[in-house]
Amino acid sequence: MFRSFFIYLSKASWARNIVTHWSIAWRMASRFVSGETIEDGIQTIKLLNAKGINATLDHLGEHTDSPEKARQATQDIIQAFDAIEGAGVHSNVSIKLTQIGLGVSEELCADNLAIILEKARSLGSFVRVDMEDSAVTQITLDILYKMRQRGFNNVGIVIQAYLYRSEEDIRKLLKDCFAVRLCKGAYKEPATVAYPKKKDVDASYDRCSALLVDGALSQNCPTVSADGKIPPVPGLATHDPKRIEFAKAYAQKVGLPKDALEFQMLNGIRRDLQEQLAKDGYHVRIYVPYGTEWYPYFMRRLAERPANLWFFASNFFHR
Ligand code: FDA
Repeated sequence: MFRSFFIYLSKASWARNIVTHWSIAWRMASRFVSGETIEDGIQTIKLLNAKGINATLDHLGEHTDSPEKARQATQDIIQAFDAIEGAGVHSNVSIKLTQIGLGVSEELCADNLAIILEKARSLGSFVRVDMEDSAVTQITLDILYKMRQRGFNNVGIVIQAYLYRSEEDIRKLLKDCFAVRLCKGAYKEPATVAYPKKKDVDASYDRCSALLVDGALSQNCPTVSADGKIPPVPGLATHDPKRIEFAKAYAQKVGLPKDALEFQMLNGIRRDLQEQLAKDGYHVRIYVPYGTEWYPYFMRRLAERPANLWFFASNFFHR
């Protein structure tokens, strides 16, 4: 119930107005968000790189509602590439399609994505398209395939294990060696499209991991690049130790080399696990968000964990 409530709040403008003017909220959010400026993001990446960990930089923003704002968001993302290049850090970039105009028009969004991919290609880099709620799953995949048709090989996608359709989607994506970040899924979805129970999501996650590992092996898909920009096909994004153990054991059993998969986590969550995996010789990539549009991202992080919710709620009501 709390999870649904916080996901509802993530979209409510009245709640956004209250929470973003509340300094304790920003202090809590800054556990997950590197800061409001691009320099904050780069600084966080430098610290991660020093530990042998790669990053994916995300300029926060979603549900842009005009062509001008979508074009501005596109330019902000181009700037993120310039900042990564200027600092010489090991990072690619993550984006959301509703950030660059999906809610305004599909054509505008596709054109903006092509501009971003062209920039990434000129720097030998890669763009990960985050997956948003199920209302846009199919269109997101359609735009991804259109980018392949336009000749871009430097774009990957996110698949959410909680959706019933995900195993089928992964099978199709593997035919073309699309890099897939596998996560459990962060939105509130109805039981008609997603597993309602955590144990079923976890089981689906393991099945999807195995599919990705098998696919990467049998298709001989590319491995992680030396500069950390190009990811391997399986990007296993979870902080759940059981999911990670399953994937490690499965990859070892079937003989997928460590270079051919990576584990991904969110900035500020399970740093101990991030560092342990890196020390054990696995590729680790951290999602590093920055920017002023941190409210919905922060609300989804609160929704994921009851302990976060209680901490937030008790501070909020005892202001
Ligand atoms: P689970 O929720 O079972 O958590 C396992 C453990 O991780 C918890 O017991 C706790 O220790 C820790 N943990 C998890 N979340 C926490 C939090 N918020 N605060 C503190 N501790 C926490 N989703 C999506 O729908 N679309 C997307 O594009 C992405 N992209 C993405 C990128 C990356 C790199 C990651 C790691 C995750 C995403 N997600 C996402 C979010 C994902 O769907 C999911 O909501 C979170 O990762 C939490 O799920 P876990 O797999 O960690 O498992």
